[in-house]
Amino acid sequence: MAEPKVNELMEKIVSLSKRRGLIFQSSEIYGGINGFWDYGPLGAELKRNVKELWWQSMTRDREDVVGLDATIITHPKVWEASGHTSTFSDPMVDCKDCRGRFRADQLEGTPCPKKPSKMVTECSAEKTAPRAFNLMFKTYVGPVETEDNVAYLRPETAQAIFVQFKNVSEVSRQKIPFGICQIGKAFRNEINPRNYTFRSREFEQMELEFFIKPDEVAHAKEGAPGEDVSTDSPEPNWGWKQWHQYWVEQRLSWYKSIGLPADALELHWQSDDELAHYARATVDIMYKFPFGVQELEGVAARSNYDLTQHQEHSGKSMEYFDEESKARYIPHVIEPSAGVDRMVLALICNAYHEAMIPNAKGVPEKRVVMRFDPKVAPIKVGVFPLLKNKPELVDKAKCVYDMLKVHVASFYDETGAIGKRYARQDEIGTPYCVTIDFDTLGEKAELLDTVTLRERDSTEQSRVPIKELLSILKAGLGLP
Ligand code: GLY
Repeated sequence: MAEPKVNELMEKIVSLSKRRGLIFQSSEIYGGINGFWDYGPLGAELKRNVKELWWQSMTRDREDVVGLDATIITHPKVWEASGHTSTFSDPMVDCKDCRGRFRADQLEGTPCPKKPSKMVTECSAEKTAPRAFNLMFKTYVGPVETEDNVAYLRPETAQAIFVQFKNVSEVSRQKIPFGICQIGKAFRNEINPRNYTFRSREFEQMELEFFIKPDEVAHAKEGAPGEDVSTDSPEPNWGWKQWHQYWVEQRLSWYKSIGLPADALELHWQSDDELAHYARATVDIMYKFPFGVQELEGVAARSNYDLTQHQEHSGKSMEYFDEESKARYIPHVIEPSAGVDRMVLALICNAYHEAMIPNAKGVPEKRVVMRFDPKVAPIKVGVFPLLKNKPELVDKAKCVYDMLKVHVASFYDETGAIGKRYARQDEIGTPYCVTIDFDTLGEKAELLDTVTLRERDSTEQSRVPIKELLSILKAGLGLP
């Protein structure tokens, strides 16, 4: 079930990710399952770092966003109201020869199941006319498998936020404009999962629904900002275009803050025929993956479509009374919606570097260095005794490791030559390594209780006192 090799760089990335425990095929011992991926020990750390950084910047650092953690399975009427039951589909064609089913708008780059070295576009066999295939995974709630008990695994986390809008706005005592954010799994039964973890059937989203005043209310206030104001600092009476612009800028600068360079990011304004059924405008934040420029996140202006739909379908009012303007309205929404797995893949692709680094004999060797931004790196520091057969070195190194591990993700390693240990950490992107040697133990009296601190990208080494080690590391890692 392995995907075809897209290009040499992706092959190297996929192989490194498996070898070092970033990403594994789900159910690999049974041949894998197409469109599902597991994160190994390092991948789990990397993913967790990404989610925590997002959560910190989206809610803890802000006074106008609160969090939610809702269920994956909801009342099926949620999806009727949202429009997913009727419209959340991709066009599908069948090949009359191999019986393969393909996404009609993505035939290019899709391999033929019969001859995987050939693309479907090269096959002259007759195809059926495209028909709509709904992407929601169906299941049954309870022991009776009837149509009445059908439910769906959520295809987006957003709807639970709309459904809980009233509860959250009441308990949080937030006033519009304010947002509700959520991180969680979502599921889409993609016709052709592709590009490694980029398009998978089970994935994780990080979504914010930011509720704003309708333009007619926002702009009714005297002195309300016009459309061409700077969107640097939020104003309660901005209209949807300004809030949309604001969130595009916020999100773009967040991507840069986690180490994705500006020249690898692009903005794409969706054309009318690309827009989802709920959107009046969407800007995609795109990343230059080795397999092409692809979307990391969509920042959509969803108008008041969703809340209006839920009001109609549930019969419960979704109106909000605005104390300031004394107006009653259904709030509009700006939605930055990001895919965690895509982001992790972008970080892995961006980190991958091959460098010529001198080996123990001083001869330059080609080695992989994962240049993760220290904030997202799975392991922040490697701790090594120079030799594993010297108990004094090992004891001291374990003391240093015990001191560091409660503050930052640390890894203790005593096996192999020290150069090999540096190389192993470079290959997983560990920004710092600390070596405990005989000088640490006082062989040179003036160096007692100092260690060698090696920096990943420069490979430079410095001598630092153990008592200053944590604060030096925290400064280098951008931690408080
Ligand atoms: N909530 C938008 C999306 O899932 O694409």
